[in-house]
Amino acid sequence: MKNTQLKLINVCAFFLTVLMVVWPSGFAKGGGKKTGHGHGKSHQAKVPAAIVDADYHENGLPLGARVALGNFLFFDKELSGNRNISCATCHHPLADTGDGLSLPVGEGGHGLGVTRDTGTGADEIHERVPRNAPPIFNLGAREFERIYHDGRVEVDPSHPSGFRNPAGNDLPLGLDSALAVQAMFPVQSATEMAGQSGENPIADAAVAGNLAGPGGVWELLALRLQGQDPTSPFYGGESSPYLQLFKDAFPGEINDVEDITYVHAANAIAAFEAFSWRADNSPFDRYLRGDKEAMSKEAERGMKLFYGAAGCAECHSGKFQTDHDFHAIAMPQIGPGKGIGLNGLDDFGREAVTGEAADHRKFRTPTLRNVALTGPWGHDGAYNSLEGIVRHHLDPVTSLDAYDTEEAVLPPRPDLDALDVVIHNDAASRADIAAANELAPRALSEKQINELMAFLRALTDPGSIDLRIDVPINVPSGLPLAE
Ligand code: HEC
Ligand code: HEC
Repeated sequence: MKNTQLKLINVCAFFLTVLMVVWPSGFAKGGGKKTGHGHGKSHQAKVPAAIVDADYHENGLPLGARVALGNFLFFDKELSGNRNISCATCHHPLADTGDGLSLPVGEGGHGLGVTRDTGTGADEIHERVPRNAPPIFNLGAREFERIYHDGRVEVDPSHPSGFRNPAGNDLPLGLDSALAVQAMFPVQSATEMAGQSGENPIADAAVAGNLAGPGGVWELLALRLQGQDPTSPFYGGESSPYLQLFKDAFPGEINDVEDITYVHAANAIAAFEAFSWRADNSPFDRYLRGDKEAMSKEAERGMKLFYGAAGCAECHSGKFQTDHDFHAIAMPQIGPGKGIGLNGLDDFGREAVTGEAADHRKFRTPTLRNVALTGPWGHDGAYNSLEGIVRHHLDPVTSLDAYDTEEAVLPPRPDLDALDVVIHNDAASRADIAAANELAPRALSEKQINELMAFLRALTDPGSIDLRIDVPINVPSGLPLAE
């Protein structure tokens, strides 16, 4: 063996040893033992290290022109089949990147946030969206490799595209991150953005299951952006107001309208989300960077509980306060569900993705930066108060049984309202939720609960409180921004 090869092996072995020593402990600072994912045990967990630029794709600095394009696309109703809804409708800066509702109202509804109604006449919605629209803070961080409440989009190198995803091998190549992959999907959902079959060609393609083929959802959307769809407000190819924006966002890659694909759009949308909604300057973040005065003493005591006796960090672990894993915590189930369980109105969470009984009713541990801003809380928005969902964690099954479906924030419509409560009001379904629960009750005093609440409020980045700057004055298609 040559000397240089030997040296290389030695160097590798050295790094491997370092990795093995450092990796299991996970974090740079703090005392106590690593907890793993044990539940109900009162471990000491570690306070994570401070978030740094390198934690984000492209060090948190995607190309400015790509961010600018993504900002327009995020707000442009041109991406919806009936040109009546955009990503922002359910993830609006004026509603802290959510919609303020327990469950969103998709295409056909009118109004923004909690004022949104279920639509009228032929346009009225057919169903509610079955899960809460999550906030989009910090999803540009590399460690967010699993997207959605059930992680059905996730980084997986064994798949040709590099991602396990609902479209399987139909997913095109060239998507930058799991966040970009996500942006491929709302546009093909009838309820969210595509519209009902018979209403427009995108809805028809979606119903036929044609996403990636000729005449499929993604090609039809690209044709719109190219100005090659006669029904587009800016039909006429080279005059597409999007052409220059795409050229600037993808220099050398896009020279002509024909070069524009929906994959480019998805990558631009992800760049916008990642850049605009990075939120790591909360008092807690400043504390982690060394400013020991950044949090109140009460919040600091809450932090110690969170990473200690309250056991929160058994799941809300790591820099972004999530283990990116799935847990069943007896969350009350409301809404139209995912076509499973009693009358198809239930939601079994991760189990529907993996087919594993062990994943029954498990949902992804949410990240907690800005959590005080992002209600309602839970995968179906069951809780309309932050303290309510925290208290739920302290005695999940009792809280499940005491849950009042009136708490849900849902624009009323009698037929939908009736479906919303079927699972919760069914004793057998509720018993099944209770049986799946893996979170043991934990006794905390009122003072300790107040301290935990103070800590959760110290997770708010002041830069996320006023997000008006992310709302464009107009969009290239000229379609209205009002909801
Ligand atoms: C009708 C409302 C609605 C519209 C429109 C919508 N979304 Fe969402 N979004 C949701 C819901 C609901 C979920 C959660 C679904 C789930 O987990 O099963 C979600 C999830 C997400 C997530 C994942 C968040 C996480 O923590 O995993 C991102 C990112 C996102 N949406 C971005 C977008 C983008 C980009 C668009 C436009 C292309 C869009 N959304 C359009 C309702 C909507
Ligand atoms: C066994 C793992 C686990 C532990 C321990 C845990 N959580 Fe959670 N937490 C979850 C999961 C999973 C969810 C989402 C459940 C769902 O949506 O169905 C959640 C949701 C939340 C939410 C709502 C976030 C949102 O955006 O909707 C808050 C707030 C929260 N947890 C705080 C805490 C606090 C405070 C503690 C400690 C007292 C704690 N959690 C302990 C797993 C855990």
